[in-house]
Amino acid sequence: MGNPGGMLESAALTSIPTGFQMEVVVLAAGQGKRMRSVLPKVLQPIAAKPMLGHVLEAARALEASRICVVYGHGGEAVRERLDAPDIAWARQEPQLGTGHAVMQALPHLADGEMALVLYGDVPLIAVPTLRRLEQAAGRERLALLTVDMDDPSGYGRVIRDDAGRVIRIVEEKDATPAERAVREVNTGVLVAPVAQLRAWLGRLTNDNAQGEYYLTDIIGMAVEGGVEVVTEQPDHFAETLGVNNKAQLAELERIHQGMLARRLLEEGVTLLDPARIDVRGHLACGRDVEIDVNCVFEGDVVLGDGVRVGANCVIRNARVGAGTRIAPFSHIEDTEMGELCVIGPYARTRPGTVLADDVHLGNFVEVKNSRIESHSKANHLAYVGDADVGQRVNIGAGTITCNYDGANKFRTTIEDDVFIGSDTQLVAPVTVGRGATLGAGTTLSKDAPAGQLTVSRAKQITIPGWKRPVKRKPGEA
Ligand code: UD1
Ligand code: CA
Repeated sequence: MGNPGGMLESAALTSIPTGFQMEVVVLAAGQGKRMRSVLPKVLQPIAAKPMLGHVLEAARALEASRICVVYGHGGEAVRERLDAPDIAWARQEPQLGTGHAVMQALPHLADGEMALVLYGDVPLIAVPTLRRLEQAAGRERLALLTVDMDDPSGYGRVIRDDAGRVIRIVEEKDATPAERAVREVNTGVLVAPVAQLRAWLGRLTNDNAQGEYYLTDIIGMAVEGGVEVVTEQPDHFAETLGVNNKAQLAELERIHQGMLARRLLEEGVTLLDPARIDVRGHLACGRDVEIDVNCVFEGDVVLGDGVRVGANCVIRNARVGAGTRIAPFSHIEDTEMGELCVIGPYARTRPGTVLADDVHLGNFVEVKNSRIESHSKANHLAYVGDADVGQRVNIGAGTITCNYDGANKFRTTIEDDVFIGSDTQLVAPVTVGRGATLGAGTTLSKDAPAGQLTVSRAKQITIPGWKRPVKRKPGEA
C-alpha cells in the first residue's frame, strides 16, 4: 500500500510551539429555531460531523489546556453526544447575550492564561488562522478576528480612530448611520487574557438596544484600560461563516467539500470532477489514485497507489490495496482489500469482508464477514456470508452460502482450488475440500470431499414420445 497523504495539516501545525496553552470557550447556547429540527443546532452535521465537533477539533489541534462549552436550551443532547474528558460544560440559562455566555465559563478559566472565544455554529474556523490570532495576542493583548464585508448588515462593526487603532465594536442596532457604513465586522472570535476578561465581564451592563450583555463591549474597556487591541483576518472568508438554517448548512457543506477536494488534488489525486465528491471522514490516498464522479467516502478510508474508483461508489471504513479497481455503483463497508482486486460494478461488501490480492467480485455479488484468499472470483450474482474461501476458487453465478437457519449463523469453508457450479446453495456449517468441484444446482448439506465432483441435483431424464398439450377447439369434448 502506498504512502497515504491525508491530514498533513494537523501534524504540521501542532508542531509550532507557542510556549503556553490556550483556554478555549465555545459559545453554543443559541437555540437555532430556524433549523426547524429536533436536533440542536450545533449538532447539525457538516461532513457527517456535528458543527460543534469541528470547532472542538480545531480547539484540540491548538492543544487547548481546557475547552469550556457554554450550552443552553436542549443542550443535554449536545453534552451526551460530544462529552469528553477534556471538556468542561457550562450551562447558560437564560441566554442574556454573548457576554453573559462567556461569564458562565469563567469558573473554568485560570487567571494568567489566555482565552480564545469560538462559536459552536461557526464550524469552518481553521487552525492556521487561530494560530495567527494567538500569536497576535501574545500574553497581554486583546486580539480580534475581523473580516471586511461588502454587505456588513447584522454584524458588529469595528470602529477605529484616525490612526487606525481599534477603539470599540458597535452592534448594528446601536450604531449611527456613519458607523453602519463601516465594512469591517467582528467575527466574534477573539483572544484575551483571562484575568482582564474576568474584570471586564464583571463591569458589563445590558444598557443597549437589545438589552443583552454584549461580549463586544469589552473591546472599549480594553482600550480605556490601556490594553492593546490588535486584529487579524482569516485565511479564508468561509472560516467565519455562521449557520442559522439549512440553506446555510448546505452552503457550508459545499464549501467544506470543495476545500477537501482541493486538498486531494494538491496531494495528486485525480478527481474527475472536484465538485462531485463527498468525504465524510478521512480519505487517505496513495499515488495516482483516480476517483470518478459522485463517490461518497465515509469514516476512515485508505486507497493505495493506483486505485481507481468508478462513478457512484459509496466506500466506508475501508483499506484498498494498490492497483485495485472498484467499478461504478459499488458499496463497500468495513472491508479490507488486497492489491489488484477487481470489484463491481454493483458489488457490495459488508462488515468483516477481507479480500486478499487479485480477488474479483462482479455484479450483484454480496460478501459479508468473510475472508477470500487471492485469485478467487465470484463474478455474478452471489452471496458469500460467514465464509472462509481459499485461493483460486471460482464461485459460479447464483451461488449462495445459507449461513442462517433463522436462529443461528454458521460458517462455510471453501478450500483452495474449488470450483463451484452455478446456482449452488452451501448449507452451513459445511466444508468443500481442496480442489473439489460442485455441480451446478447443488444443494450442499454435507461436506464435499477434496478433489471430487459432488452434485446433488436430480438425474436428467428425457421422456420419449411425449407431446405438448394442444388447445381444444370449441365444441370438442
Ligand atoms: C455577535 C456579535 C457581533 C458579531 C456576530 C458575528 C455580540 C454582542 N455581537 O452577534 O459583533 O458580528 O456575533 O456572528 O457579541 N450565544 C450564546 N448565548 C447567548 C447569545 C449567543 O451562547 O446568550 C452564542 C450563539 O449560540 C452563537 C454566538 O453566541 O454561537 C453568537 O450569537 P449570535 O446571536 O449569533 O450573535 P450576535 O449577538 O448576533
Ligand atoms: Ca448572529
